[in-house]
Amino acid sequence: MSEPVAIQGCKETGRRRFLTRLSIILGSVSAAFVAIPSIGFLLGLRKSPRVWRTVGKLDDFKIGSTVNVSFEDTSPLPWSGVTAQTAAWLRRENDQQFIAFSTICTHLGCPVRWLADADLFMCPCHGGVFYGDGRVASGPPPKPLNQYPVRVYEGRVQILTSPAPIA
Ligand code: FES
Repeated sequence: MSEPVAIQGCKETGRRRFLTRLSIILGSVSAAFVAIPSIGFLLGLRKSPRVWRTVGKLDDFKIGSTVNVSFEDTSPLPWSGVTAQTAAWLRRENDQQFIAFSTICTHLGCPVRWLADADLFMCPCHGGVFYGDGRVASGPPPKPLNQYPVRVYEGRVQILTSPAPIA
């Protein structure tokens, strides 16, 4: 025996209303999952911790030399793997003084290379050139290479991590 048409229509309307509400709720939850972290990022609410990372022993570095050092990022995630590694160009000025330059060009963010013979940093993307002290020598970069704070602590050279500067 079939149900009267009025009862079938009522069930159909109730199901449709339920599915509509379910879609709205699931859509809202999904939107919140995306929006909340994005808004936090845009407002700068999520601060990365700044940590001193050891890049070598004091004796590992010759005075006057600039070498590439790598260290773990400021806030590695458990699944970051090798992408948690970042790098800097470390220059030993004298006995206790170092300068750590970001490897990121201040123009559009390409990695700069150190040319020891020329005493210059060179950016391969658009020909940006920086002096050995990080100042712009020529090309499109608008400002000097960014620097990380460096310290010598108990015979070890340490760099203060910070988020990679975005050009
Ligand atoms: S990104 Fe380095 S010169 Fe353009």
